[in-house]
Amino acid sequence: MHRSLLGKIVKRHFSMTAELLSKQSSKSAEHHKRRIFSGIQPTGHLHAGNYFGAIRKWKELQDQGEDIILSVVDLHAITMKHEPKELLKNNLACTASLLASGICPEKSVLFLQSSVSRHSELCWVLCCMTTMARLGHLPQFKEKSALCGKEIPLGIFLYPVLQTADILLYKATHVPVGEDQLPHIYLVQELAKNFNSRYGKTFPRIEAMVEKSQSGRLRSLRNPEKKMSKSDPDPKSRINLLDEPKVILEKCKKAITDFTSKVTYDPENRRGVATLIDLVSLCTGKTPQQVCSENADVDTAKFKLRVADVLIEYLTPIRQEYDRIVKDPGYVQKVLDNGACRAHSIADKTWAEVRNKVGLNLA
Ligand code: AMP
Ligand code: TRP
Repeated sequence: MHRSLLGKIVKRHFSMTAELLSKQSSKSAEHHKRRIFSGIQPTGHLHAGNYFGAIRKWKELQDQGEDIILSVVDLHAITMKHEPKELLKNNLACTASLLASGICPEKSVLFLQSSVSRHSELCWVLCCMTTMARLGHLPQFKEKSALCGKEIPLGIFLYPVLQTADILLYKATHVPVGEDQLPHIYLVQELAKNFNSRYGKTFPRIEAMVEKSQSGRLRSLRNPEKKMSKSDPDPKSRINLLDEPKVILEKCKKAITDFTSKVTYDPENRRGVATLIDLVSLCTGKTPQQVCSENADVDTAKFKLRVADVLIEYLTPIRQEYDRIVKDPGYVQKVLDNGACRAHSIADKTWAEVRNKVGLNLA
């Protein structure tokens, strides 16, 4: 065959292959694989609400072989006044608690938010796409700003935009959180949609994964009108993951119930008792009705002692594992360094794409 003709055929073949490959890769970029992202603030001790509302689900997803990325969100933690030394300690303690709860650094990417600077960079781009009115309506902003008087830090206001950046940076498709986070996830969905329509399809559809059962919103033990929360000034309002048995017993004894002594499940009218039943149900896998029929022989005062027993049995192995892990802070640091490395490589790709699309890239 004539050499120049052969050359043309080879050239044409390569350009067709290249075209096909580029078509395939843009197709696979459009078809986003399922990826899970979630975060937790390293503020105070993790409690039963965090565990049953979020962490236990993360472990299940991880063990099912899902692609899952988990972040200890320290940049979110500084939106409220903090003590620098405490924050450093809390970052390690929160990571160790996650490890003790069964999060496995080989299966999940576990990292510290502040070690990947792309979170703050993408946050800025997203800030330029949202309005003050939209952020001012979010319930968590209203709750937190009410605690600040007239001096409301901007960080509290922008908190959900940073949360959006966390999720979009990894092109996550699913976000397992407690029910309280739903308004923030709606904002994430809106911002992703707006970005895609303004700059071209970049981010996938995002879905919240909220437990429909009682674990989606576990209530305070002292005020069943409120959720169990790290920031509640009354430590008896929550069972911490690392509470000693005698502390758990004390908190259960002091839990608010009502004037009816029978153990019955009525989450609307008997919220205090229902929360105790929920805790037993979450630890044992029994339905609330089963818990009630097994405790038909006791009044609520005696039931509280049984609740304490169940919680102590469930939480003791986690506390013991935590005690073992924190003996080696070097290990926890290594887990975070390795996680940051893996998170970086994903975040850098998304950030390069965002820069290009927004027109921030000179190259
Ligand atoms: P935070 O303590 O605010 O960083 O929350 C970490 C995770 O725990 C989030 O997914 C929350 O939705 C979840 N969470 C916090 N408090 C509760 C609660 N009382 N019941 C269920 N889930 C909760
Ligand atoms: N705002 C979440 C909370 O208070 C924590 C968080 C930060 C988060 N970034 C996230 C949760 C991204 C899910 C995904 O619980």
